Amino acid sequence: MNKRLYFTVSILLASVISITAQVNAPTAYPDRVILNLTEDPSTSVAVTWRTDISMNEGFCEIQSVPSGPVKGGDSKSYKARTTSMVYEYENEPVIRANQHSHLFTGLTPGEKYIYRVGNDDYWSEWFEFQTPTNEDEKFSFIYMGDPQTDLKSQWSRVVRAAYKHEPNSGFILYCGDLINRAGRDTEWHEWFHAGSFIYSTIPQVMTPGNHEYRRMVLDPHWNAQFTLPANGPEGLEGSCYAVDYKNMKLISINSAAESELRHKEGTKMEAQKVWLDSVLSANTQEWVIVTTHLPFYSPKENRDNKHLRENFQPILEKHNVDLVLTGHDHSYGRGRATDNPAGGHQVMYVVSVSGPKMYEVGDKDWMEHSGADTQLYQVISIEGKKLTYESYSADGKLFDQFQLAK
Ligand SMILES: [Fe+2]
Repeated sequence: MNKRLYFTVSILLASVISITAQVNAPTAYPDRVILNLTEDPSTSVAVTWRTDISMNEGFCEIQSVPSGPVKGGDSKSYKARTTSMVYEYENEPVIRANQHSHLFTGLTPGEKYIYRVGNDDYWSEWFEFQTPTNEDEKFSFIYMGDPQTDLKSQWSRVVRAAYKHEPNSGFILYCGDLINRAGRDTEWHEWFHAGSFIYSTIPQVMTPGNHEYRRMVLDPHWNAQFTLPANGPEGLEGSCYAVDYKNMKLISINSAAESELRHKEGTKMEAQKVWLDSVLSANTQEWVIVTTHLPFYSPKENRDNKHLRENFQPILEKHNVDLVLTGHDHSYGRGRATDNPAGGHQVMYVVSVSGPKMYEVGDKDWMEHSGADTQLYQVISIEGKKLTYESYSADGKLFDQFQLAK
């Protein structure tokens, strides 16, 4: 072998070794298997996973939960939609991956299922999930403020504590800033490591934060690795949408788009206002919960998102929205408030944080309960006309609670 050829082969081998040594590199086996809520969770659920680019097709199999060994012949099999992605972040190794997704439809409400994803000899384990019933009985879900930093070392214990606390949670809701640097695959690797099988067995639902945006562009991971509803305004698929879960309507407003909706020529504020008003005008659900990243009222002394209140608060109040769940301020604040001097319906606003990044809390009138330097998860339960909200610190102690009734 001549010197030049030897040099080229050495470089190629070194780069192959370096990419396989990357903890976040995909393989032929499915990883990052995640369920997402659809607009109709009682009869459908979305699944998304990742492989390396050798797997140019993906399949999923599903059947009703058996009491014993899984028999392959009882499964229905579906071919997934496959998209090739290239994830680049500064000088970190480029990650090339195939993202596969499928929408399971025609499911029976209240039924337990098992499913697996993969191809050829490369399959995930069988995961179990349950669709909600159409009946009015009690359900619960978990709400998390920003995970954002130290996802593997410190946030992991919070998502696991929440799961242990409420293993039958219908879904887990994230209010944005799931990671710190948009586009950085190593951080998504940590986020998926932290939640692991919890994501594959309980549907997840999320609204993007400012840290999922880089130069006003949404992290390409977002719509490739999550399959969220696309029933909102055009251009905001997977970030502004509505879900009907039993007797509750859950709405995600994307307050991170267009420089936190402050872009002068931006159109996404207006589009979301028009859409929100039309969705709420047609609403027949008992409860309405809105989630968005930016707080309507901030716990932090020198922060305020007046533009959000000016634009959205009149719509929320007009349609008697019950609860607004947010993040961004890395502390806790909760209370009812309005900018309308005439009063009227006052919405309950919450700001919470689940990751270890912390800000101080100011002395603000709107807060009925506040806290700093505490990692939290919330369990929200709805039973007919009663909503019970409980916030717990990472060590499982009750931190805040309230009830709402119709
Ligand atoms: Fe944020």
